[in-house]
Amino acid sequence: MKIGVFDSGVGGQSVVNAIDKALPGNEVIYVQDHENLPYGTKTPEQLHELVLPILTGLVEKGCKVIVIACNSVTTTIIDKLRQEIAVPLVGMEPMVKPAAELTKTGKIAVCATPTTLASKRYNYLKSTYAKNIEVLEPDCSEWAKLVESDQIDKEFIHDEIEKVCQLGADVIVLGCTHFHWIEDIVKDVVSGRSTVLQPEKPVIEQLSKVLKQIV
Ligand code: DGL
Repeated sequence: MKIGVFDSGVGGQSVVNAIDKALPGNEVIYVQDHENLPYGTKTPEQLHELVLPILTGLVEKGCKVIVIACNSVTTTIIDKLRQEIAVPLVGMEPMVKPAAELTKTGKIAVCATPTTLASKRYNYLKSTYAKNIEVLEPDCSEWAKLVESDQIDKEFIHDEIEKVCQLGADVIVLGCTHFHWIEDIVKDVVSGRSTVLQPEKPVIEQLSKVLKQIV
């Protein structure tokens, strides 16, 4: 089965790797819109203009399902795209619900792009699943760009992560696929004080479910 994977950049590669590992035997076609990165500062309208032709191209190449490996796109325009694209779309969004269920301190931190944090979907997740929880949102606005150009290091993210740990966040959500590549650095700073969540496993589970329905 042909599976499309789409992201603005290297964030999607982590999802491609996870699919290759968990669901071998499928053909993954991965498209990244490196030229227009960062997506995480764009408006829903700008994202729609960029993403619709790319997804249409993946359908034309024979993809039977597409993983939107981008929180910024999922949280802003996936509903609209689902009406326009003829194959199932699997999205990725910040794991607010699992984090809210897991926290013991009543404080979680969500690391995501400005576009994701401003989205209706993310704010719905917060007001529905984390209404009695304090949600900290560290400034990660430059992270995706720096991850993309391989210029991020522990020193750069240290202060933001240290701050949320000191404020008592015992769960940290990685809500941007680019942050997969700095998960180990985040864990290093956290040094056992918080659990770090990222959505690879639930996305693979959801994709497997969709694939079974297609076959
Ligand atoms: N990887 C994308 C996400 O999950 C966005 C990165 C970017 O800003 O382009 O939100």
